[in-house]
Amino acid sequence: GHVIVLAGGLSYEREVSLRSGRRVADALRALDVDAQVHDADATLLQTLQQAPPDAVFPVLHGSMGEDGAIRDVLELVGVPYVGARPDACRVAWDKPTAKSVVRAAGLATPPSVTLPKEVFHDLGAAAVLECVVRRLGLPLFVKPARGGSALGASVVREAGDLPAAMVGCFAYGDAALIERHIEGTEVAVSVIERDGEPVALPAVEIVPAGELYDYTARYDAGDTEFVTPARLPEEVARRAAEAAVTAHRALGLRDLSRTDLIVDEAGQVHFLEVNVAPGMTETSLFPRAVAAAGLNLGRILHDLIVARLR
Ligand code: DAL
Ligand code: MG
Repeated sequence: GHVIVLAGGLSYEREVSLRSGRRVADALRALDVDAQVHDADATLLQTLQQAPPDAVFPVLHGSMGEDGAIRDVLELVGVPYVGARPDACRVAWDKPTAKSVVRAAGLATPPSVTLPKEVFHDLGAAAVLECVVRRLGLPLFVKPARGGSALGASVVREAGDLPAAMVGCFAYGDAALIERHIEGTEVAVSVIERDGEPVALPAVEIVPAGELYDYTARYDAGDTEFVTPARLPEEVARRAAEAAVTAHRALGLRDLSRTDLIVDEAGQVHFLEVNVAPGMTETSLFPRAVAAAGLNLGRILHDLIVARLR
């Protein structure tokens, strides 16, 4: 039998996904699993039908990857796959929706407004932004309501910088999520399921060289310092771990996820977003967390696959 590692696709995160996919396939092959990277292209359906794999491991980031669409295809074909089901992906992928779900589950998440591009322009950009600043204050964090890898995201410290941030955001998506920017320590908590129970791995602390943990800081080695486990008081680390598990459960995710959080100066944990297909590149957070836990990446991924075959 063999495993298809689904990577690439057509999102802005295609290159990242290909790197993630190669890493996953290598980690599995090191355990003698026959794993092949397959692009999420027009040949996929044919491949799945003519040479059905034992399982698929989706490592597609961004739209048509984390939004559940390709997983609908996997459900259609009836092939086992690792990770969240399509409906849960759709909810997690839409950041404003995910925020309201985790807020209802008791987590803190920065106050925000969501602005579709049309609304923004139809109501008059300047007036809308004035209203946003009055409501949320400054600084703000602007990002596409659906997106990843910090593409189109920026911190806005002065109201005058907001229009440019909106333009940058709308280049990557048709709706903007504008959040109050919480100053603090950014941490990522990866979750894996063991016997159906979500378990948090050690939090990874992100210390970008610049102000923002942006695309370059994410994928160019050496641009960001990672501290694992994060330098958090024990009690705060426990709350961060709990928050990630709560998000995983509340959003109905499956097998693995990574929740991004900000810990403010008072030690309060704020939910930013969750990733249903966390990055698996050499510089990514999930593999770091696995290593920090003293675990083997291939073994973890292999166990997730085997659990899906039962
Ligand atoms: N969206 C990227 C791949 C991540 O969150 O790791
Ligand atoms: Mg993300």
